[in-house]
Amino acid sequence: MREAVSVPSVAARKRARGAPPIVMVTAYDTPFARIVDEAGVDVILVGDSVGNNVLGYENSLAVDMGQMIHHVAAVARAKPAALVVGDLPWMSYHVDLADTVRNAAALVRAGARAVKLEGGRRRIPAVRAILDAEIPVMGHLGLTPQSVHAMGGYIVQGKDADAARELEDDARALAGAGCFAVVLEGLPDLVAERVTAAIDVPTIGIGAGPGCDGQVLVLHDLLGLSFGPAPKFVRRYADLGTAAREAIAAFVGDVVAGSYPSPDETYHASADLRRNLGKASGS
Ligand code: KIV
Repeated sequence: MREAVSVPSVAARKRARGAPPIVMVTAYDTPFARIVDEAGVDVILVGDSVGNNVLGYENSLAVDMGQMIHHVAAVARAKPAALVVGDLPWMSYHVDLADTVRNAAALVRAGARAVKLEGGRRRIPAVRAILDAEIPVMGHLGLTPQSVHAMGGYIVQGKDADAARELEDDARALAGAGCFAVVLEGLPDLVAERVTAAIDVPTIGIGAGPGCDGQVLVLHDLLGLSFGPAPKFVRRYADLGTAAREAIAAFVGDVVAGSYPSPDETYHASADLRRNLGKASGS
């Protein structure tokens, strides 16, 4: 069994200092948390992307604390060595600092060892309040899905110099406040490189090019379990959707043809039972 991945060990993983890249993958349930952990990832993110990948919502805005607690607990029951990070859903850290801390604590009680939230300088009071409760925080900048309406869609951010500088300032503020890592999503490669160079905690990219200190993909995209066109940064490493469809279609065929279950797949009644039931049923 490998050693548990700690927050300080992730915080120290700057590639510029010779560290290997961080690998983060999402998971939302126990079997996939086990599989992802056994594959050797460093961090399992129980993302609010559970909303669109598992729960059938159009986006992550429908996801609430109850659902996040449920999925964080399911992942934690796999007892992964990977660091489990629980995503704070939309509106769980936007209204009131006391509620923010309680919500972060609820994810920790469910089994997360750190939480993630989206946004830059505006979120510093929330970051500080959560850190004050001894809960490590991962930041998230760029194309932040909880801001889908404010951004006008899932649109690459930081495309002009002013926006790029704002992102650098946001990243410095998050790192300065004590975030142990920052996700960079949907950014031009150069902007992600500059942000990565500007802060001394690792960046973990998704659609942000190769210059980050690590990479994250959504599990369902990686395994071919998502529907619709994938963003250009998604590399599909398997087509489990097709494999599952073919397996289930084969089961349907076998049941319809009467070839499932076979004698070997059946618990056969003993001769005694047959005789007794035969008598009882009057045959
Ligand atoms: O919820 C999620 O899956 C995420 C990743 C895209 C980083 O926030």
